[in-house]
Amino acid sequence: MKSYKIALIKGDGIGPEIIDEAVKVLDAVASYSGFSLQYEDLLMGGCAYDITGDPLPQETISGALNSDAVLFGAIGGEKWDNLPREKRPESGLLRFRKELGVYANLRPAVVYDELVNASSLKPEIVRGVDLMVVRELIGGIYFGEPKGRDETKGWNTMVYTRDEIVRIAHQAFKIAMTRGKRVCSIDKANVLDVSQLWRETVEEVATEYPEVELSHMYVDNAAMQLIRDPKQFDVMLTGNIFGDILSDEASMLSGSIGLLPSASVGAKIGVYEPIHGSAPDIAGQGIANPIATISSASMMLKYALKEEKAADKIDNAIKKALSEGYRTGDLAQFDAKEVCSTSEMGSIIANYIEK
Ligand code: IPM
Ligand code: MG
Repeated sequence: MKSYKIALIKGDGIGPEIIDEAVKVLDAVASYSGFSLQYEDLLMGGCAYDITGDPLPQETISGALNSDAVLFGAIGGEKWDNLPREKRPESGLLRFRKELGVYANLRPAVVYDELVNASSLKPEIVRGVDLMVVRELIGGIYFGEPKGRDETKGWNTMVYTRDEIVRIAHQAFKIAMTRGKRVCSIDKANVLDVSQLWRETVEEVATEYPEVELSHMYVDNAAMQLIRDPKQFDVMLTGNIFGDILSDEASMLSGSIGLLPSASVGAKIGVYEPIHGSAPDIAGQGIANPIATISSASMMLKYALKEEKAADKIDNAIKKALSEGYRTGDLAQFDAKEVCSTSEMGSIIANYIEK
């Protein structure tokens, strides 16, 4: 029997609770799909700092590189907010992405038919939304030099090299080929030099994908268009910070940030994680929505392990749980037949996995 090694990084806040539910669902699907999964727990974030003094211990990097894929919960919390920057959980995450070389962050935003009423937008605007934000993840203003601060000034630099733009653009065009064959590249080329280079480079890469229709949009307009008419988008290609912002915005189309998964891929091992954070305010109460993490596990099966059928089984089980009216607290007021806890939702989805 095929066997895969999965590195689990539960992290802080609700991280452990939601990862446990994803593991429940993964075990169910593996048992019907002819492969087995072996898990190794690795430390990252505030919990890693508390134990080792480092938010990203070396063993976590080597453990991850030694796995077939990483399933990641969430990190961070107020408790660690006043540490020096390099000790903060977020710095551990950024270093981790860099070490693994996961330059492409894929963030799909899909509106489940069952939840069209859950969005803060009108149902007719969001019904049928199915877009993918392709966010560059290990460059741009998050990593650019010089950066720093003194008493009276703080500075960061938005830098992209041509090569960095080329590789993320290829990812976006390849993904578009498997979807609606449209890429909208988001930049701020009317103001930023780095965006001008971005735009020119994306146009060059586009010539290799004649079937894909390329358009460009300024980021401020894109933020507006996402709310005005989100169905116009198929693949949204963008840099690190614009993608961070736009993907949170896109998540609200679906009704809850607790629904949306992501995949971070690149040279080596991929990282699969919900797009939401560690939600310390609700940690330990059993009310977090595990669907984003379960859906991330599905992306992991599809992209990292090439177990597409098993991934489809998870997606179908999630849809079934929603169409049967099961809701966690975040979605309780939207056509709920039954409001369930984090672990009840995980069990319901695991039970709906087709044999
Ligand atoms: C995300 C998060 C991270 C980011 C933080 C926690 C560093 O917001 O994954 O979107 O900004 O990339
Ligand atoms: Mg973010």
